[in-house]
Amino acid sequence: MAQAVIREPRMGASILRLFFHDCFVNGCDGSVLLDDTATFTGEKNALPNRNSARGFEVIDTIKASVETECSATVSCADILALASRDGVYLLGGPSWTVQLGRRDATTASLSAANSNLPGPGSSLSTLISMFAAKGLSAQEMTALSGAHTIGQTQCTNFRAHIYNDTNIDPSFADLRKQNCPASGGDSNLVPLDVLTPYRFDNNYYQNLVAQRGLLHSDQELFRGGSQDALVKQYGNDAALFASDFARAMVKMGSISPLTGTGGEIRLNYRKVNG
Ligand code: HEM
Repeated sequence: MAQAVIREPRMGASILRLFFHDCFVNGCDGSVLLDDTATFTGEKNALPNRNSARGFEVIDTIKASVETECSATVSCADILALASRDGVYLLGGPSWTVQLGRRDATTASLSAANSNLPGPGSSLSTLISMFAAKGLSAQEMTALSGAHTIGQTQCTNFRAHIYNDTNIDPSFADLRKQNCPASGGDSNLVPLDVLTPYRFDNNYYQNLVAQRGLLHSDQELFRGGSQDALVKQYGNDAALFASDFARAMVKMGSISPLTGTGGEIRLNYRKVNG
């Protein structure tokens, strides 16, 4: 991860997002990493992932070197959990102890990826209920959303917010319109955190208080609703955010793991053994 993040700081963000997308779809079981096969369509082509999820080649490299050291022992799901933690830490965020022992899925689900992952147009109540469906509280949802202190997003995901919503700082909307025309330029990229795009800090929350959240779903956390007070608290207290984020990551990482004789230890993370 250190090599990958030095080469491209965004990679810390991309791997963290892969882990979120793995855990929310049938648990943290490496399913997001599987390529499509004749018997199932994988998650890589689900709406939230297609032309968006990235970093697979970094997991390839890590998996290959782990296999050389000790074959068929460490699951792809565990590698993703560890790599996410390291990416966050390398970009200045907290560290935490990763619980290990996840095994890898032998199947993946495009439809579960489409229905379990929240979209950028989600309302606060949708966000709260989609996280609750995974055993995560509204407070944990708000802490985990702080992941958007790093990484980038494409115009297509924030266009409606900068052009149609009124709960946005007008000068910030104008700034973002420069890279995101009303039509066209769908894949133009901009940082999620306008202040420090590659620093894992609490500026995401300060942005929300200033109505500078980039996704509609981000700004939903600070719009006169139940999460306002917590957003302010995280914006004022970097240490509180860091520790709550770390704890919530451990919890997210424990969603429905495959253990015991469930699943397998995949030899190549892109495909099922055999
Ligand atoms: C609360 C609901 C969430 C929604 C609606 C959401 C949605 C999105 C969207 C639309 C993007 C941009 C994708 C693109 O334009 O290609 C994105 C990026 C990202 N998300 Fe989320 N996300 C959510 C929660 C999370 C969580 C819980 C994490 C991790 C703990 C996370 C980590 C990231 C990261 C790091 C990026 C940047 C990835 C990169 O630069 O490659 N997100 N998210």
